[in-house]
Amino acid sequence: MKPVPPDFPGALMINDQEIESVTEVLKARSPFRFYGPNMVWKTKTFEENFAKFIEVKHCLAVSSGTAALVVGLRALGIGLGDEVIVPANTFIASAGAVLECGATPIFAEIDESLTIDAEKVEEKITPQTRAIMPVHFGGKSCNMDKLMNISERYDLLMIEDCAQACGATFRGRKVGSFGHVGAFSFQINKIITTGDGGAVTTNNSELYTRAVRAHDHGCLRDEDGHLGLEQSPEAFFSTNYRMNELTAAVAVVQLSKIGLIISRMKLRKASVIENLGTLRNFKISKIWDKEGDTGRNLILIANTQERALSLVKELRELGFSAAIPYGGYAVYFHRQIRESKIWKNLPRRTAFKLCPYTEDLLPRSVMIGISPLFTEEHVDVLVRTIVKNDK
Ligand SMILES: Cc1ncc(COP(=O)(O)O)c(C=O)c1O
Repeated sequence: MKPVPPDFPGALMINDQEIESVTEVLKARSPFRFYGPNMVWKTKTFEENFAKFIEVKHCLAVSSGTAALVVGLRALGIGLGDEVIVPANTFIASAGAVLECGATPIFAEIDESLTIDAEKVEEKITPQTRAIMPVHFGGKSCNMDKLMNISERYDLLMIEDCAQACGATFRGRKVGSFGHVGAFSFQINKIITTGDGGAVTTNNSELYTRAVRAHDHGCLRDEDGHLGLEQSPEAFFSTNYRMNELTAAVAVVQLSKIGLIISRMKLRKASVIENLGTLRNFKISKIWDKEGDTGRNLILIANTQERALSLVKELRELGFSAAIPYGGYAVYFHRQIRESKIWKNLPRRTAFKLCPYTEDLLPRSVMIGISPLFTEEHVDVLVRTIVKNDK
């Protein structure tokens, strides 16, 4: 078998187009997004194109997915004393961004899709709850019908963490266009990449303006792109989460390739699933909208942790990207979360054994990366290895 392509979908599609785009910025000697000797406006172009792609009114490019979450939360006015409901299964940045804003992440169970269990969100709502953060985990959407319904009924803000699911849809609508704000990452493991980078999306002009402030020292720039001594009551303290023109030069080209990347991953994933047939000891994890899945990951749930681990080990030996998500630990087990001041001050009732279902499910889950560059042979070996481990 030819070596399995490493699990970097967007990065492996980089070619002369990205190189030319970056060169253009360098030749113009204008790597800063707001002004320079000969602007080529890559960041502005990316924002316009990304807003069109997600089908929202506004997009703000930022320096990372984490920055997108922090900027999004600050735009929503989330801060000290506020609670944000976050799934117990996610990358640390989702909960970390809430803590960074001085608010408290409250963890909710996931369901068999490994995304937040909409049925379990309601029991976590308190008078302090301001927002829900659905995380579209593993290239696919959460159960958005139910989550939108809860957000509307309880008048809660919604920030979607779309870091892992750029281009995914739910009932034909792109993730990142449901909530009050959406947050995207273009880190190297993501569907499209700029190395590091991110974007905030919203349909609300006021939130967009607040996001612009939140990503740029709390201020708005003048027509020439300079930060003045702004005395507006709307100004607030924030720091620098800006994207630069070199990053945006890559982002513009990567975005133009996203359709191709997703269609290839979808095709390969469908072919794996079709050939797996009926499994006895593994289940394919639930997908709330199969049509809208980007195909980025195949997630299997084993009946035992041992079986999950041995599949991961064998797939890795063959060169596939396979892992028990986050080592099988709910995000609140991260030392950084538990050691944070806010978490330490949480009442004891919320401190331990918060989400037993998640704690049982995660260690039995196997997350496999699907590459747009898989050949039929890769698909075949992947299928055979899973079937062998199902015995
Ligand atoms: C669910 C989730 N949220 C947020 C992030 C943070 O993105 P970044 O690494 O670009 O800061 C990531 C990935 O890294 C992620 O997987």
